[in-house]
Amino acid sequence: MFSYSGNDLYCEQVPLADLAARVGTPAFVYSSQAILCNYQAYDESLGALPHIVCYAVKANSSLAVLGLLARAGAGFDIVSGGELFRVIQAGGDPAKVVYSGVGKMADEVEYALESGIHSFNCESEAELELIDAIAARRGVKASYSIRVNPDVDASTHPYISTGLSQHKFGIDITEAPAVYERARQFRNVAAEGVSCHIGSQILDPSPILESVDKLLELARALRAEGFDIQRLDLGGGLGIAYHAGEEAPAIRGFIESLQERFRESGLSVVIEPGRSIVGAAGVLLTRVLYRKRNGPKEFVVVDAAMNDLIRPSLYRAHHDIVPVRHNPLPKITADVVGPVCESGDFLARDREMANVMPGDFLAVRTAGAYGFVLSSNYNSRLRAPEVLVEGGAWRVIRKRETYEELIRGETV
Ligand code: LLP
Repeated sequence: MFSYSGNDLYCEQVPLADLAARVGTPAFVYSSQAILCNYQAYDESLGALPHIVCYAVKANSSLAVLGLLARAGAGFDIVSGGELFRVIQAGGDPAKVVYSGVGKMADEVEYALESGIHSFNCESEAELELIDAIAARRGVKASYSIRVNPDVDASTHPYISTGLSQHKFGIDITEAPAVYERARQFRNVAAEGVSCHIGSQILDPSPILESVDKLLELARALRAEGFDIQRLDLGGGLGIAYHAGEEAPAIRGFIESLQERFRESGLSVVIEPGRSIVGAAGVLLTRVLYRKRNGPKEFVVVDAAMNDLIRPSLYRAHHDIVPVRHNPLPKITADVVGPVCESGDFLARDREMANVMPGDFLAVRTAGAYGFVLSSNYNSRLRAPEVLVEGGAWRVIRKRETYEELIRGETV
């Protein structure tokens, strides 16, 4: 949904140069059409299989994005009370919410039960005990899945790989049956599923399929022991292409291979994609402030920084950076850096890129997931606004912060 017409980069039918001039920079811009298309790729290809696509709120939790997905029928995967609050504010249905995470707190569990969420993905026996106690006090029965750790290597960045036994997540799959067994003593929780999440930005789906096979086997064994297991939750979605020309795994093809596995099982599917729904649907617009040279090195200093998009600094992640308006000059090789006072503040290093001049706009691509949500006020920089494009129309869905908002709640 981001493409050039002539020399100008558009989001759907909106020329980004005009938008940047109107809204200012830095600014995140999202294509509603792209978000919906990606959601529908999961939802439609799951088709007749009973399923819920629970969008992972952590990837992009802006109310307008959640609202768009809620209206399309999405469920939500949350990891905090704050995310649940956002889902409810955006009009999401709590009955389609699954609650993941290794450190749920009592007040959050209380809030989730009060809101009537679908299910908890539990990561320890102590957590089950807590949920049971709170459910007992409220006089309700809480549905749960145990998040198992299938000991499968997701082959992704070590910070976002979660399915090996060295990681803090889940319960070892070999120990899970004993945990379900011991949890029978908890009268206010009901074992209805098995869940897992082996990592994010997975480009080769085979480790996910490998863990699905392990989950199916576990579900069969649990059913044989009399547990009423109704669903498998497969965790996050597929990885996406961050480099121009790179091929992302096809959502529809991946789901097709799930179909075969689930068809006979009688189990429903929950999947929690975040990145693959919003990632490629967003860009971060930034303006060139200066060009400078230190010895042989060329720098393009822009008005977006690591506080706006931390992925390059934190994960050495690559984001394509393209001009909002092409110029005919020969390309340059430069570091794209922001105003933050750290050498770790870069958006790209030694990048072959457009020969931009101060005042030109650039688009940092594939910034819709884990972009704004990871942004901060570091260096007391104001957080960027967000804009949602729908066809030829656009609207600011989050205003740029002001200095007053920057110090809200503080006292001298
Ligand atoms: N479900 C669970 C339990 C998760 O922990 C995650 C992501 C997801 C679903 C969504 O996964 P996805 O479909 O987006 O791959 N900040 C990092 C990514 C952290 C992912 C954490 N968990 C980044 O910028 O790459």
